[in-house]
Amino acid sequence: MNGPAVAGRSDDDPADGWFPESVAATYDDPGGANAPEVIMPAVDALQDLAAGGRVLEFAVGTGRIAAPLATRGVPVSGIELSQAMAARITAKPGGDAVEVTLGDMTATRVGGAGEFSLVYLVFNTISNVTTQDGQVDVFRNAAAHLRPGGLFLIEVGVPSLRRLPPGQDTVPFTVAPGGNRSGYVGFDQYDVVTQEFTSNHVTVTPDGKGRFHRIPFRYAWPAEMDLMARIAGMRLKHRWADWDRSAYTADSSKHVSVWEKLPSPEGGTQSSSTAN
Ligand SMILES: C[S@@+](CC[C@H](N)C(=O)[O-])C[C@H]1O[C@@H](n2cnc3c(N)ncnc32)[C@H](O)[C@@H]1O
Repeated sequence: MNGPAVAGRSDDDPADGWFPESVAATYDDPGGANAPEVIMPAVDALQDLAAGGRVLEFAVGTGRIAAPLATRGVPVSGIELSQAMAARITAKPGGDAVEVTLGDMTATRVGGAGEFSLVYLVFNTISNVTTQDGQVDVFRNAAAHLRPGGLFLIEVGVPSLRRLPPGQDTVPFTVAPGGNRSGYVGFDQYDVVTQEFTSNHVTVTPDGKGRFHRIPFRYAWPAEMDLMARIAGMRLKHRWADWDRSAYTADSSKHVSVWEKLPSPEGGTQSSSTAN
């Protein structure tokens, strides 16, 4: 699960949550999620789904996706909790065109609510909202911004519950020994009763110093998200395994899901649950 590599510097503003200045400072470092081969397929798919309409990114961060989307001429707005993250958007090509509102995506409304063609929330960030009520509020807030027929997209990992044998609560995602007795171990620790989980990062540097960093999340199975969408007056339109729109299967480690806002606030009648 993604998360900050470093945190807790004394000049960090607590209001910036888990993504304060010390995290924002390295968030855009090259490689990984910032590699063009990761970003561009997402931007291509989002541009298609927007179909020429206005787009809103929940938890827009440093504009990793929103800024390149804006360079394509797509009108993009964003909501972001962390001032430190949002401050970096304008430095990116296209970033000047992204209208950012500081606030919480569970409740913040931006101008033009009810007119957006697409709201999207990527890079596992639905899981940063650590209660079921809060996650439902995210779906409701997305629906409130969409025009009827508009789309809400989420990109998120599938919880690794199939890798948990009875009696075990921990799944490693990276074990990377380095030189000189340094190394990194990353693991998720699940509470299958509460659906809370933590991502844990243990880093040891060659000087023998170690750091243990733990970030809280809440997981939801895709079917629970479909129910949240239904509560918010939307229904599933697509569920893909990735941005390339490949089929979602039992072995998929993530999903890119798209729900469509139905004409009536109560959700209207659902004609079919078929999605592809
Ligand atoms: C993993 S980053 C993703 C940023 C960006 N969407 C991207 O793909 O690079 C998660 C972002 O979500 C923001 N965030 C977390 N909870 C939020 C909330 N409730 N409302 C708005 N932003 C939130 C964090 O401040 C952080 O910038």
